Amino acid sequence: MAEPPGEVRAFVAAQRDGEVDRGLRTLPAGELGEGDVLVRVAYSSVNYKDGLATIPKGQVARISPLVPGIDLAGTVVEGEGEGSEVIVHGHDLGVAHHGGYAEYARVPRDWVVELPDGLSARQAMAIGTAGFTAAMSVARLERHGVQPDGGPVLVTGATGGVGSTAVSILAARGYEVVASSGKDARDYLESLGAAEVVGRDDIAGDGKPLGKQRWAAAVDSVGGAVLAGLLAQIRYGGAVAASGLTAGVKLETTVMPFILRSVALLGIDSVEASMDERAELWRRLVDDLRPPQLDEAITREIGLDELEPALDAILKGELTGRTVVRVG
Ligand SMILES: NC(=O)c1ccc[n+]([C@@H]2O[C@H](COP(=O)([O-])OP(=O)(O)OC[C@H]3O[C@@H](n4cnc5c(N)ncnc54)[C@H](OP(=O)(O)O)[C@@H]3O)[C@@H](O)[C@H]2O)c1
Repeated sequence: MAEPPGEVRAFVAAQRDGEVDRGLRTLPAGELGEGDVLVRVAYSSVNYKDGLATIPKGQVARISPLVPGIDLAGTVVEGEGEGSEVIVHGHDLGVAHHGGYAEYARVPRDWVVELPDGLSARQAMAIGTAGFTAAMSVARLERHGVQPDGGPVLVTGATGGVGSTAVSILAARGYEVVASSGKDARDYLESLGAAEVVGRDDIAGDGKPLGKQRWAAAVDSVGGAVLAGLLAQIRYGGAVAASGLTAGVKLETTVMPFILRSVALLGIDSVEASMDERAELWRRLVDDLRPPQLDEAITREIGLDELEPALDAILKGELTGRTVVRVG
């Protein structure tokens, strides 16, 4: 295996006097952080959290300077498993430990998941943290008892990373998917398999504790008023998998959906998911949870030098689908 260079090309965010200085820099390889495995990064991706890690009040970055990038796929070039292709996401990656936006990443071995057969590094990052979270949401809903013949499943923030992947996975599994979006994106969402597209405001609703029972279940990566609205629209015994906060962290709701309709609110966290759950979900992402549109509709590719506008765009809710970052 070739020697890693003394310096690596990286996108770095540094806090300075209440501002964040961001851009491409050269980092000494000795400053990549602690870890027993060195990975040559092939691809990373753009997640909402990456945007937050590069702005002054994002409340995500815990070191400065920081190489953001909360997920990566590449090849182990030093340490246990040398030569194998791997995925790393979650834990402190890209928030308190240098992440995927650098040619090399040094990480603890127990953060590493083997790249499953049937998935390239690019495809793994087309899924990335957002797609993994979508898969986790679907798996949790099904564990709760949600089934394809049980009625329509709502996906909020449907053009986003979590949303697009959830629409694609659910539709491929035979669900009737209703996509909620603030964008004019009917063609895109239908191409992923949505049976119906509704507006974001239609879901946020009128603030009443209980509304018409519309959805058997929901995958929500939006939170705020949208989550409050949809909870009042879940059918008796249904469930919501909640993972995100793009519409806000505040949830103003009542106990009525829970105590009168037996609705379950399932919290989804990918960051601290156990390594067993990660391995199982990545195996299923190649198999029965594979989003069919991974190489086409969902994914676009950029280089490290195109990151800045993409990070700004994701914070404004302007990105559609998943954006992979070509690093190596
Ligand atoms: N819990 C976890 O482990 C975990 C893992 C991954 C992601 N997340 C969270 O999930 C969320 C989505 O992440 P992502 O990477 O998929 O981001 P993303 O690609 O930007 O998707 C978010 C989507 O939310 C919608 N949206 C944006 N601003 C909104 C607003 N003000 N009100 C209502 N809807 C809005 C937009 O969809 P439309 O335009 O289609 O409405 C946007 O595309 C983030 O909050 C992220 O932190 C959590």
